[in-house]
Amino acid sequence: MARPLTADIDLDALRHNYLLARDLAPQSRSMVVLKADAYGHGLVACARALADLAPAFAVACIEEAELLRDAGITTPIALLEGFFTADELTRIDELDLWTVVHSDWQVEALLAYRPARPLHVWVKVDSGMHRLGFMPGRVAVVWERLAGATQQVGDLHLVSHFATADQADTHDFQRQMGLLQRLADDLQAPTCLANSPATLSRPQSHADWNRPGVMLYGSDPLEVPNAFSQRLRPVMTLSSEIIAIRHLATGERVGYGGRWQAGRASRIAVVACGYGDGYDRHARDGTPVLVGGQRTELAGKVSMDMLTVDITDLPEADIGTEVTLWGRAANGEVLTVDEVARHCDTISYTLMTGVLPRVPRRYHDARPRV
Ligand SMILES: Cc1ncc(COP(=O)(O)O)c(C=O)c1O
Repeated sequence: MARPLTADIDLDALRHNYLLARDLAPQSRSMVVLKADAYGHGLVACARALADLAPAFAVACIEEAELLRDAGITTPIALLEGFFTADELTRIDELDLWTVVHSDWQVEALLAYRPARPLHVWVKVDSGMHRLGFMPGRVAVVWERLAGATQQVGDLHLVSHFATADQADTHDFQRQMGLLQRLADDLQAPTCLANSPATLSRPQSHADWNRPGVMLYGSDPLEVPNAFSQRLRPVMTLSSEIIAIRHLATGERVGYGGRWQAGRASRIAVVACGYGDGYDRHARDGTPVLVGGQRTELAGKVSMDMLTVDITDLPEADIGTEVTLWGRAANGEVLTVDEVARHCDTISYTLMTGVLPRVPRRYHDARPRV
């Protein structure tokens, strides 16, 4: 018998979520963001599951792109941060990658390089996020230089990122959007703008390309969910089992520091999952957990390999009972990773990317094998 903790990855749900993104932006092409090991879901498995649907993938660095090419994936791949050193241009060329340029030194390096064939380049605009990109007033100059360098540069696009598309208040989003619209019109540039929240809730941003990430994995990024975000299906289910049960008298405490105290005679389940697996140690008492598909709560601080759950009101729960930390339980009940994240004062992104390698991934794909 192995340790019962697993991360089950539902590739049909991944495809369902991708098709939702595509249907929401029918005039746009939906590039799949696969960085950070497909947000913890497994880079190559997710890429293979979407290879027949997606016109392009996006990753954060050449190493991630190399893993995809080594696995035989031929889909175009964009490097969202471009290259980190000029010598990476050779690999970009060899692996046939698309590159973002966000800084002057990258433009100079690109113009000094002699690729086998002109590269597909995405000019990043800092439209208000103030992370990467050229300030709007400089974009036309950069664009003209690159457009004139026909030996180095083939297709040219504008790309930008929204800082607040998830928020109900649209003020900052509108400002970014207005600026990008003017730039795209002036330069007659094809653009790539929308992340998941914009794909789900800001149709005016869908543009020529969109770039959904987290929604593909079934997490709802919107501050206020909408009819579309509610159709997302969880892709990852993190589940384990009860490995021991304690009976506590009123007033007794559980775990490190004795943070949780029994307010009545209580039954506590010990579950094989801890922060050494990626479950967030910041999870508060009261964080929801499904035991046998029924909701209950975390009781006590998370340990490295175990956590503790109040099962006083679940008399059927026993050693071996399924425990769902997030995702879909065997009875169909869903606990979203977003809800768990709120109890940890974090976001779903950190929980999903934080599931550590010692947790075995099990992939499920109902598609007929060909
Ligand atoms: C440049 C860029 N584009 C797109 C995405 C995808 O964003 P989301 O996961 O919110 O859809 C990210 C994610 O961090 C990003 O950094």
